[in-house]
Amino acid sequence: MTYAWIKAGHLIFVIFWIAGLFMLPRYYIYHQEAAPGSDEEARWIDRERKLRNIILTPAMILVWVFGLTLAYTTGAWSQGWFHAKFALVLILSGYHGYMVSYGKKLARGERPVSGKALRIMNEVPGIATALIVILVIVRPF
Ligand code: HEM
Repeated sequence: MTYAWIKAGHLIFVIFWIAGLFMLPRYYIYHQEAAPGSDEEARWIDRERKLRNIILTPAMILVWVFGLTLAYTTGAWSQGWFHAKFALVLILSGYHGYMVSYGKKLARGERPVSGKALRIMNEVPGIATALIVILVIVRPF
């Protein structure tokens, strides 16, 4: 019973986290299309900060807390699919950290990466989610 509740919590916050990761680079793309110093840019900075602080970072922390609890409960550490999933989740967490720091640079008026590069990077969460779901459901190894 407790296990089922922890798994439900895990999946609820996985959805919030991944939804936020889909949205944040999109916001950055629109932000970079606004004129530097404009009111529109100020509105994007505010939206991005709220998305990061209210949804994205709390959701990531809770996914980790519930996920690690599941891993200790089920003994997943000894299974091959979990090693691969863990590696992908580390990459996704690194991507999250990069996107958070990118937003802080944007708020300071820097625009280090082009809109095209952001569009390409925006594919990372989708690809990682597809691979992780295949690993946890199909468990090919
Ligand atoms: C942050 C670190 C994470 C850890 C430590 C973790 C760990 C786990 C563990 C141990 C399970 C239980 C498997 C079982 O029932 O035997 C699980 C279930 C699941 N995880 Fe994660 N997870 C993490 C992140 C994620 C992410 C980012 C996703 C999706 C993008 C995800 C998707 C799922 C799904 C769909 C299940 C349910 C599988 C089932 O029905 O058995 N997890 N997770």
